Amino acid sequence: MTLLPQRPRLGFFVSHRGSNMRAIVSACKAGGLNAEPAVLISNNRNSAALVWAAENDLAHIHLSPKSVSSEEALDQAHLDALLNANVDLIILAGYMRKIGTKVLSAFSNRILNIHPALLPMYGGQGMYGSRVHKAVIANRETESGVTVHLVDDDYDTGAVVGQAKVPVLPADTPEDLAARVLAQEHLFFSEMLIRIVSGEINLDDLG
Ligand code: GRF
Repeated sequence: MTLLPQRPRLGFFVSHRGSNMRAIVSACKAGGLNAEPAVLISNNRNSAALVWAAENDLAHIHLSPKSVSSEEALDQAHLDALLNANVDLIILAGYMRKIGTKVLSAFSNRILNIHPALLPMYGGQGMYGSRVHKAVIANRETESGVTVHLVDDDYDTGAVVGQAKVPVLPADTPEDLAARVLAQEHLFFSEMLIRIVSGEINLDDLG
């Protein structure tokens, strides 16, 4: 894969709320993260992320299996949208679907996901949202956290880029833990991106 440019262009995939995307866009605007939010792709036409993008002048596109003829066509439409926006780095931030093979091979080692637990624990298909935090609490873990990882063709299995821990407190409800983890995500994803853009972390050494 070619080197990242000095100021990479970011392509976001988000299905729902988009708070991680907003935190990253804020870090770009504040200047701490030298990257350019380029486009948001969402499979959910009613997502808060799409509404926010429309209100904040971020190019956005709704693409779902229903809007095209097949998964292969969806994969191609994703690729076209990413190439049209000159995206260098793809950020999955709460995207509930798998990425297709065309995008995976065109953006090899250039797709990042954030997961609200310390992978490889509490990951895989069906492990998302409150299910993760409920399982962590049910197992009486004393710590959980955040994982930023490269994306491959399975759920949550790509090489780990970085992890940050948060405590699990004895009286935590899943909602308490979710809030603590999410606050950490909002800081940590941008921190990882800053280290990637500066060259301190080389994604090609990981994948
Ligand atoms: C985050 O908890 C992230 O770890 C997971 O999905 C959630 C997305 O939240 N992959 P938001 O849409 O960024 O608010």
